[in-house]
Amino acid sequence: MGDHYTGLIDRYREWLPIADDTRIISLCEGNTPLVRLNNIPRDLGRDVDIYVKYEGLNPTGSFKDRGMTVAVTAAVADGSQAIICASTGNTSAAAAAYAARAGVTAFVLIPDGKIALGKLAQAMMHGAVVMQIEGNFDTGMQLVKEVAEEAPVTIVNSINPFRLQGQKTAAFEIIDALGRAPDYHCLPVGNAGNISAYWMGYSEYHARGVVDQRPKMCGYQASGAAPFLRGHPIEHPETVATAIRIGNPQSWDKAVAAQGDSGGWFDEFSDQQILETQKRLAQREGIFCEPASAISVAGAIKDITSGKIPEGSAVVCTLTGHGLKDPDTAISQCQETVSKVPAELDAVKRAIHQRLG
Ligand code: F0G
Repeated sequence: MGDHYTGLIDRYREWLPIADDTRIISLCEGNTPLVRLNNIPRDLGRDVDIYVKYEGLNPTGSFKDRGMTVAVTAAVADGSQAIICASTGNTSAAAAAYAARAGVTAFVLIPDGKIALGKLAQAMMHGAVVMQIEGNFDTGMQLVKEVAEEAPVTIVNSINPFRLQGQKTAAFEIIDALGRAPDYHCLPVGNAGNISAYWMGYSEYHARGVVDQRPKMCGYQASGAAPFLRGHPIEHPETVATAIRIGNPQSWDKAVAAQGDSGGWFDEFSDQQILETQKRLAQREGIFCEPASAISVAGAIKDITSGKIPEGSAVVCTLTGHGLKDPDTAISQCQETVSKVPAELDAVKRAIHQRLG
C-alpha cells in the first residue's frame, strides 16, 4: 500500500462522529501546508515565528471543505437527498462541490451582488441551485432555518454540528505539524464557526494529553462588520471582505467562550488595512489569500508590533480562502503593475531597464 492521502475523515476518524462503515464523501480536503513566514517577521524586526495555515489550498479553495466533508457525509448517511445553506460565497462553493460528489442537490442562498466572482462561478459550475436574495447573509441564514423546518433539506451551515467537527481537524494538523500548540492563533471571524471549531480541536488534543497547552484565540473582524467589538449584532454589515460581511453570527456564545477561556481577544481592522495586508502577504511572501483571510495576519502584525504578542512566541494565522476567489478586488488594487508595451524587443528592454535601473 502506498500512502495516498484520502481526506480528513480517514485521517482523523477516531476523533470524528463518523462510523467505520459509513460511505465517505471526500475530495481529499485538509492536509494543508503550514507555511513559516520569512520576510514579514524580518520587516517587523521582532523575534516571533509566524506560520500561516494555508486553507486556500483545500479542494474548493477554502477551509469550508473540512466542515463540508463531514456534514455531507453525515447528511447522505442519514438518507438526505438535498442540502441547503446561506453563504457569503465559500460555503456555497463547498456545498455545491460536495453535493456533486455525493449525487445530491445543493440549494444555496447568496447575497445579491455581494459575492466574489470565483465563488459564484464555483456554485454555478458544480450545479447548485443558486438563489440570489435581495438581502445579506444574515437574512439568508434566517430564511434557511425557516425553510428547513418545512422542506426535505439538510442545513449545512455551521449551525450543523458536523461542520465544526470537520473544521476542528485544522487544529489537529497544526499540532501534528509543530509538535506543540502555538502560543497564539489568529483568525478572521464572521459567522464565528471557525474560531469555535479551532478551540474545540485544540481543547480535545489538550484533554487527551497530546499537548500540555492551548493557544490564546485572537479573532479579527472588519470594522464595518464587527458585532463582537460592538457587543451586539449589526443590522447592516459592510466590508470589502465580503466573506465576513456578517452582522449576526450564529456561533456567538461559542466564539465568546473560545476567546474568553483561552485568554485571547477580538479586534477590528478597516477595509484599507485588510487590503494592504493582503497585498503585503502576496508581495513579500508569495502567498495569495482572499481579503477576509488577510485580516488574521493584519491582527498578528499589529499585536506583535505593539508587544501584546511577546517576542519568542509561536503564532499561527489561518488563511481561510484563496486569493483567486476574488479576482476583481485583487485587480482593482494592482492597476499600476500592468502597462501597455509595444510588441518590440526595444520596448520590452526599455521596460526592464526602467524597473531595474
Ligand atoms: N474567511 C473566509 C474566507 C470565509 O469564507 C469565512 C466565512 C470566514 C473567514 C469566517 O469564518 O464564519 O466561521 O467565522 N464564510 C462563510 C460563507 C460565512 O458563507 O462562506 P466563520
